[in-house]
Amino acid sequence: KHIKTNMTKFSLAVSAILVGSAAAWSTPMTMKADAGVDSRRNILQKGAAFAAGLAAPAAAGAYAVPDLLYDFDALEPYIDAPTMKIHHDKHHGTYVANINKATEGKDPVPILDLMADALEAGPVRNSGGGHYNHAFFWDEMTPADKAAKTKVSDQLEALINKSFGSMDEMKAQFEARAAPGALFGSGWVWICVNQAGDELKLVGTPNQDNPLMKGVLDEVMFP
Ligand SMILES: [Fe+2]
Repeated sequence: KHIKTNMTKFSLAVSAILVGSAAAWSTPMTMKADAGVDSRRNILQKGAAFAAGLAAPAAAGAYAVPDLLYDFDALEPYIDAPTMKIHHDKHHGTYVANINKATEGKDPVPILDLMADALEAGPVRNSGGGHYNHAFFWDEMTPADKAAKTKVSDQLEALINKSFGSMDEMKAQFEARAAPGALFGSGWVWICVNQAGDELKLVGTPNQDNPLMKGVLDEVMFP
């Protein structure tokens, strides 16, 4: 089951790339690129604000799986509805249940605030990372028809060209990195902006780790 789950995750990531020239890259990436030249604080605030699912819970133990902003079948034929449903309802649901258990009785904080020190925080590393990563993923994805109406900003395009050579080359590298068998075990593939905000990097993280967690990569970066 675990292996199958992992494969699904990677195929999700690859599918994200295959959604087409616009779908996977337009609106959310534009937001990231704008964030890339902001101060670190602004980057974090923008990151924190992008999805209701990542907002501070009203009370301890109240982290919740955010509703999708589109239908479960909205990403077909690239990602089918049952795959989306399993990852959203079952996977994400389990991570949320576990992070709620792990933070019971503590002051409620946005999940983003738990990421930096997650490696030392025991169960938060897996359940908190799982909550953040999945919520981020749902928010990143956009149905193709909607994405086709948006455009990558000039600023982001310049950053992509500088970092990868071209949009097509970035997609090719992402796809190769996220392909089944390219990484051993479970994990995620990310395109991040570095601390200086002047370069994008393609990185992989194991299990539910992410680039926001201190110690996972050489430097903390922003998905
Ligand atoms: Fe998942």
